[in-house]
Amino acid sequence: MSDKQQVLYERVGGEQVISELIHKFYDRITADPQLKPFFENTSMSKLRRMQREFFSAALDGPITYTGRPLSYIHHGRGITKRHFALYVGHLLDTLQDRGIDDQDVQDIIARINTYADEITGEMGSAG
Ligand code: HEM
Repeated sequence: MSDKQQVLYERVGGEQVISELIHKFYDRITADPQLKPFFENTSMSKLRRMQREFFSAALDGPITYTGRPLSYIHHGRGITKRHFALYVGHLLDTLQDRGIDDQDVQDIIARINTYADEITGEMGSAG
């Protein structure tokens, strides 16, 4: 039933579903012993709010991301490509668990992967 006229944001179910996904996603992240330590001094309610904005905007929703630039937030925290891969793995599991259409899941993961260098500060192999 996925309507290709709709943007990704609408196809996954809009604000309500994105809010639910972010909640479940961060429950997984903070339950992962390798990722948990990064979030020890973070306000999770603010982070969830910023992530809702970020994901809504990244999926072409009618929302503007008002947080700080991703490279500014993440550089200097010791986040490696391996942490990034774990993070994306939890996102994949969260989307699949919610029954999001396979093609939409792939599109979302592809978009999120484009931010790898801004998060880890390492040079990517592409380009
Ligand atoms: C593409 C992947 C990622 C995206 C899109 C993303 C996005 C964001 C956003 C939007 C914020 C909030 C910005 C703000 O408060 O202004 C944030 C904060 C944060 N992110 Fe990420 N993030 C990603 C990957 C990661 C990874 C892999 C880690 C660690 C393993 C991480 C650790 C953090 C931490 C610790 C904060 C909170 C910083 C604070 O306490 O102010 N992020 N991220």
